[in-house]
Parts: sequence; C-alpha cells; structure tokens
Amino acid sequence: MALPVKIQADLESLLLMTFIPFRAPATITMEKIHTKLFELASPYLDTRGNREHTRIAYEFAARLLDEEEGDPCVVFPAIILHDVGWKRIPEELQSSAYGPGSNDLALNRVHEVEGAKIAGQILLEVHYPLHFVREITEIILGHDSRKQAISASDAVVKDADKLWRYTDHALRAFAERFGMTTQQSIDRLTPVVDQWFLTASGRRMAAEQLLRHESDWGICQGNKKAG
Ligand SMILES: [Fe+2]
Ligand SMILES: [Fe+2]
Repeated sequence: MALPVKIQADLESLLLMTFIPFRAPATITMEKIHTKLFELASPYLDTRGNREHTRIAYEFAARLLDEEEGDPCVVFPAIILHDVGWKRIPEELQSSAYGPGSNDLALNRVHEVEGAKIAGQILLEVHYPLHFVREITEIILGHDSRKQAISASDAVVKDADKLWRYTDHALRAFAERFGMTTQQSIDRLTPVVDQWFLTASGRRMAAEQLLRHESDWGICQGNKKAG
C-alpha cells in the first residue's frame, strides 16, 4: 500500500538526515534525475565548450559502466557536474590552465575546488542523498589533480573525462584553441594511454578512437595520392 505523500516525504527527510540510502519513488527515474542535473548545470557549462564535452563524457561513462565496476548513482552526477567550476575562471585565463604544454596548476585547481562547491549546492537542491553528495564532491575535487582513483566510480569518471580528448570534438577544440593539427594531437595522445587511463575498458576505448582517427587520416592520404 502506498504511503500518504507527507509521510513518504518525512521518511525520506529522516533517511537523508541519518545518511541511510533511500529508494527513490518509482516515478523518479535515473534518466529524470540526470536531465534535471544537466538542466541545473547548464548555466555553469556555458563556457569552454563544456556542454558538449560533458555530454560526450557522459556517453563514455555509460559505456564504461557496462563493463567496469562503479556506482551509477555516483558516476553520472559526478560526470555531469565535474567541470561546472570552469565558470568561475575568466575565459581569457582558461586556456592557460589546461591542454598541451605547461599549465597553470593553481588556476586548474580553482576549477576543481569551485566545481565541488557548485556541485554540492546543486545536489542538495535536488535532495540527493548526502552520502552520495560527499562521494561525488570528493571525486570532483580531485578529478584532474589526483592521478590515482579513490574508488571504482572515481576511475570511471576520470576515464570518461579523458576519453573526450580522443574524440573529433576534442581534436577540433585543440586545433581552435592551441593551433594543433590532427596529427600533432594524435602524436600527443598516443603515448599516454597507459599512463592516463585507469580501467582496461578506458584504455581499449582510447586505442579504438586513435585507430579510427588514423584510418580516417590514412583514407585522406590515399585520396591525395590517387588525385
Ligand atoms: Fe576538469
Ligand atoms: Fe572535463
């Protein structure tokens, strides 16, 4: 028998306060939660091409979770919100804080710290369970600077984020922001696969992306010769 709405709400508040996981009502699907989080993150992702970057990283997270350990209740909110902190860094300074070459690590750190704060606020706004909020903000706080994963969910988030670098969208971004040719990007991305990726699936997906770029490149070279 379904509980009256007020009692159900009170129970969920109580469980939140005592950090015991609650089961979301069946009408609230995972998809609806993700849509809401994307909506709330949207104003913060309106910089550095982060809306597209986040969508792509989200797709990779879904693929990784088909094969790797990791809690979807942690991984998806973490990947949706991981880069919201870039909004706190002036656009003219952003390109010095990431990408090829030496980066301003202190500035990069700002996007992690501010991102964790904003993500926490957003998750509290949607009444996300507090024990998940802690885990998600901890992951966001070290998603770039911490090289090792603190959990299986963290490893999936880190790999999903980095897999974006191997996509067409990233290669175009590297060309626009840093003047890199496709070949220069491939030469940069190829030797670091084992160093960057923490899961076997992440390494395999990165290698698959590289192979795809190389075959595209090969076709273009072939056409050039034929012409
Ligand atoms: Fe980031
Ligand atoms: Fe990212």
